[in-house]
Amino acid sequence: MKTTKHNLPQAIDSHLQSIEKELTPILAALTTELRVAELSEPFAYIMSLGGKRLRPALMLMACQIFTDDLTPALRPAIGLEVFHNFSLVHDDIMDKAPIRRGKATVHHVWNDNIALLLGDTMLIKSYDYFTELQPTVFKQAFEVFNKAALEVCIGQQMDMNFETRDEVRAQEYLEMISLKTSVLIAAALKIGAIIGRASEAEVDLLYEFGLNLGLSFQVQDDILDVYGDPEVFGKAIGGDILANKKTFLLIRAMELAQGETRDELQHWLSVQTYEPQSKIVAVTNIYNQLNLLTLTEALREEFYDKALEALAKLELKMQESAHKLIDLRNFAHWLLRRNY
Ligand code: IPE
Ligand code: IPE
Ligand code: MG
Ligand code: MG
Ligand code: MG
Repeated sequence: MKTTKHNLPQAIDSHLQSIEKELTPILAALTTELRVAELSEPFAYIMSLGGKRLRPALMLMACQIFTDDLTPALRPAIGLEVFHNFSLVHDDIMDKAPIRRGKATVHHVWNDNIALLLGDTMLIKSYDYFTELQPTVFKQAFEVFNKAALEVCIGQQMDMNFETRDEVRAQEYLEMISLKTSVLIAAALKIGAIIGRASEAEVDLLYEFGLNLGLSFQVQDDILDVYGDPEVFGKAIGGDILANKKTFLLIRAMELAQGETRDELQHWLSVQTYEPQSKIVAVTNIYNQLNLLTLTEALREEFYDKALEALAKLELKMQESAHKLIDLRNFAHWLLRRNY
């Protein structure tokens, strides 16, 4: 497989270029449209910091399986990316995160109030980009988007609730990440397929692929939050540990730790005043002792395999056009072995 920067499969590159090309005039028009610098500047700031553009890329890839005309999918793809960026701006306030995509977060550069209203503005704008779809497709696509958007909020609240819960079961963690992360990834694929006029069975299989890809993707994000290289990952390492986020790593650590290790983990989970770095180092050491990286990577692979199973079912259905799924397969492979 030929690759480009960050070892991305080359076939994805043209989609990424289309996305950036569509985004450029939109960002340029923002200053006029939003009128106040405190909205237009942070909007352009967060959208210009890059990011993988995974959701719009998936939408375009799904659409391309069924049609060569990607034009109608471009603006909704931007809409989904704007929605995702809105969720990040608010997520960074909620998670008290200082760094995003290697730069200071919006609420750090500006302040919480600006970041809140910017998020609202971005949410409103994200819907705007769907309105040019043809009426029949619009209704279907919009419903999928709205359902996913609501589920993201539910998942985010569960994630926050779990911070202060003493016990969270792995099943509850999976439900939470499915809502906060997977449904939007699955919706991107589903909307792309709807715009490409795929059959209902094809749409459903792509959604199933997306849900499992999303689960695997969030498990990898949780791994990188502990084991990533901050320079490459672009976020502060250990944020999940500091917030007592009930990731799979922590849930399994709480189940597996015995004796002194268990007491030490309990201490770090309950302590109020501490040196952040000491807590990160201590909890990471416990994860290492319990070999949790291997265990969590196995979970990531489990969902990756399930995603590929859904893709294989779609391949069977598509018979002679099955080769059109190769980009998606390559992208999934790259995504789950990424380090940022
Ligand atoms: C970050 O999403 C939030 C999660 C769901 C883990 P991405 O990892 O897609 O963030 P960017 O857009 O590439 O920065
Ligand atoms: C992100 O979860 C979910 C949403 C943004 C909705 P995280 O809190 O793990 O995402 P990062 O790690 O800050 O990107
Ligand atoms: Mg969060
Ligand atoms: Mg976060
Ligand atoms: Mg994270």
